[in-house]
Amino acid sequence: MNRRPPSIFSRTLLLAVLAATGATLASCGGGGGGGGVNTALLQAQGRQIFRFDTFGDEIFWTDTLRMHEVIEQQVSPTLALTVGLKVDSEALPASVANGIRNGTVDLTSPATTVALIKLDAVVGIKGRVETINGVDRLTRVGVTCALCHSTVDNSFSSGIGKRLDGWANRDLDPGLIISLSPALSTTQKAIYASWGKGMYDPRFNIDGLSKPAVIPPAFGLQDVHKITFTGDGDDIAYWNRYVAVTQMGGQGTFTEPRLGINITNGTQDLVSSRLPALQAYQLSLAAPAPPAGSFDATASARGKALFEGKARCSTCHTGSTFTDANLRLHPKTDSMVEPEVPSHADRSATKLYRTTPLRGLWQHAPYFHDGSAATTEQVVTVYNTKMLLGLTPQEILDVAQYLRSL
Ligand code: HEC
Ligand code: HEC
Repeated sequence: MNRRPPSIFSRTLLLAVLAATGATLASCGGGGGGGGVNTALLQAQGRQIFRFDTFGDEIFWTDTLRMHEVIEQQVSPTLALTVGLKVDSEALPASVANGIRNGTVDLTSPATTVALIKLDAVVGIKGRVETINGVDRLTRVGVTCALCHSTVDNSFSSGIGKRLDGWANRDLDPGLIISLSPALSTTQKAIYASWGKGMYDPRFNIDGLSKPAVIPPAFGLQDVHKITFTGDGDDIAYWNRYVAVTQMGGQGTFTEPRLGINITNGTQDLVSSRLPALQAYQLSLAAPAPPAGSFDATASARGKALFEGKARCSTCHTGSTFTDANLRLHPKTDSMVEPEVPSHADRSATKLYRTTPLRGLWQHAPYFHDGSAATTEQVVTVYNTKMLLGLTPQEILDVAQYLRSL
């Protein structure tokens, strides 16, 4: 490098840029396009935002929900892991890692959770820890996108490992976590607590109805220009703004005339300027390949032929992303979950469904927007029954194996 990096570069960011530049150039086949470094810079910034930016949502999680008190008083690391929170092992200094291994770090004490938050080691949780009268106190806390859309590889122990950004955290029980807030009524607490693991209702606080959707992955969205189960936005940034402002409580504005939503939090906009980088990072996240040996290749090959033929799946799940989202959205009846009450589509901006891109399916069971199909076999069985496909039991298994190979 012959140019000095500008001072806004943190060392971490710079290293991330260098790493990402390598990746980008490699993926361009070594071609010398001038966009590589800029894209890499944007993606590296986006990664920081995805992992660590709260958009100022501490005003909601701290001042309104008082989650800093809940965490300090009640949430040991053991409890945190039970509700699906994850710990980034790469953020742990050797002394802490060793202490967890040999049992000298107390995983039953909320003070340890505060210490882990201080290290930025709890995925999706961002806190400010201040030493008051010699004691580390959690004075502010907020959440980031990584809370729901990252997990870890469990390489250290269950729930503790290297970050896997974009992977849906299907162990996370966001509703149960929110239900611990002392600011909620008994009725509200009961509703939040009822949603369950891997589920979240991003419209409950808008329309008052409660029917959670599964937390989808944020990977594999390159070339998909309709976002969410109902295709509400033309790009990821639309929905990122929605979630950042209306769900996380970030400081900024979200307006959606189709739903009569016009929400502004605070007087500063801490969301808009983050969206391009955040989107660039998500678009860089490829769907993870299925683990070796996790599906039967022979059955999967037979399943592919059925998927494209007798089972008619590829009439909607088209192309490399397995979706016709860029061409059309679908009437409610094309979702195997409908009719449902309340209808997820009816609560959305489009009132329609997007054909879900089938990327990295093995990673994120259960399937369909309400999580009603626990396995790929169940998915195919539902289609077979509702669409009268006439698949034999063996053919159902074959298509299910193919789905696991994607
Ligand atoms: C509390 C959990 C939670 C948090 C925090 C959260 N999301 Fe989501 N996300 C969801 C749920 C649930 C959906 C499904 C919404 C739907 O389709 O109706 C979703 C949908 C998405 C999608 C659409 C995926 C697709 O297939 O089209 C993307 C992309 C996404 N989120 C990215 C983000 C980003 C970026 C952030 C931070 C600004 C974020 N999410 C914060 C739960 C969350
Ligand atoms: C008429 C269009 C259409 C056809 C045909 C179709 N799908 Fe779908 N598919 C959709 C839509 C729309 C969704 C979203 C449904 C929902 O979540 O409510 C979906 C969702 C799915 C999902 C869930 C993905 C996830 O992450 O939740 C799987 C798996 C799937 N389809 C597989 C198949 C298979 C296998 C076939 C053939 C047997 C098939 N689809 C045929 C439109 C279609």
